[in-house]
Amino acid sequence: MFIGPFALANSLFVAPMAGVTDRPFRQLCKRLGAGYAVSEMVTSRRDLWDTLKTSRRANHDGEPGPIAVQIAGTDAAMMADAARYNVDRGAQIIDINMGCPAKKVCNQWAGSALMQDEALALSIIDAVVQACSPSGVPVTLKMRTGWCQSHKNALSIALAAQDAGVQMVTVHGRTREQGYKGAAEYDTVAAVKAALHIPVVANGDISSPEKALEVLTRTGADAIMIGRAAQGQPWIFREIAHFLATGEHLAPPLLSEVKRLLIEHLHDHYSLYGEFSGVRTARKHIGWYVRELPGGEAFRNSMNALEDSASQVAAVAAYLDRLSERMDRIPARTRDADAVQTTVTPSVSITPTPDRTEVAL
Ligand SMILES: Cc1cc2nc3c(=O)[nH]c(=O)nc-3n(C[C@H](O)[C@H](O)[C@H](O)COP(=O)(O)O)c2cc1C
Repeated sequence: MFIGPFALANSLFVAPMAGVTDRPFRQLCKRLGAGYAVSEMVTSRRDLWDTLKTSRRANHDGEPGPIAVQIAGTDAAMMADAARYNVDRGAQIIDINMGCPAKKVCNQWAGSALMQDEALALSIIDAVVQACSPSGVPVTLKMRTGWCQSHKNALSIALAAQDAGVQMVTVHGRTREQGYKGAAEYDTVAAVKAALHIPVVANGDISSPEKALEVLTRTGADAIMIGRAAQGQPWIFREIAHFLATGEHLAPPLLSEVKRLLIEHLHDHYSLYGEFSGVRTARKHIGWYVRELPGGEAFRNSMNALEDSASQVAAVAAYLDRLSERMDRIPARTRDADAVQTTVTPSVSITPTPDRTEVAL
């Protein structure tokens, strides 16, 4: 799969998640089988570009390319400026956020609120594509199925975006009104895929290898994007890749591997955020890693009392070592109750490389 000139390692994408998919987490997901990751959104407000928060979000040190930066905003000229600014700082792909339902974003008429005003949305898309075209940087778009149940306009925006020069569209199978409630639907994603000639990515509620196969089959999408299910289990990408290639499940990771990955993640996290913020923002990641492990809830709560990185790492190591005395591997996560049993045989071609697996879906 390609985005513009960029060949991707496979068609399993990490969804952009503000406060989660920072550079350390994206890198970890890529190491563990994700073929592509988009950064957390960066505001189009120039006055905020010099803040610590934005500079951390713009950190791509050592990240395997292509480097994709997501921008969010409400004004075409400012979005074009933001695109140019990020391209000048190394972005190889610019993604427009038209999918985020966060009040902070939508109250300012950005994110998925833009889907309510197609003319404004298209003026932003046009301006960003024009801004990126001199440098040959592809522009992609991430959106929801529409504003609300009675206003599902993903298809018309996707078609117009394609005409404007957008090179890939991702659709999260929920409306803005739904937030994260209810279940994602994939018929709209399938309709968008059927109508477009550029790659279309399906997103929403993909949390197991079976669900990944089901969504790929139902939508015909070129790729799938995984958000919440990757929190605390970045190895989900290799598990899905393996299942799509072989129809069989990989064993869950060994506790010794989880310990190594989590501790590496923590050190990389502290190096980006510094000691004080790093320890505090790492707590949520630790909580996700341990949430389904025996005693995980109590362990997560105990993290709040630790205020320095050395004690945090030592506590994580001791907890996972204690568990290793009882079990080799983490327990298999509960599979989706709603995953449709499908008789479709996985049909994917796999090209193994020394350190990652390439899947062409
Ligand atoms: C904590 C969090 C932060 C998110 N931040 C962004 C964001 O910055 N940009 C964006 O386009 N979507 C954002 N999303 C939406 C996700 O990219 C994705 O579309 C959504 O979570 C559905 O996918 P999932 O069911 O696999 O999680 C965010 C979601 C979560 C849970």
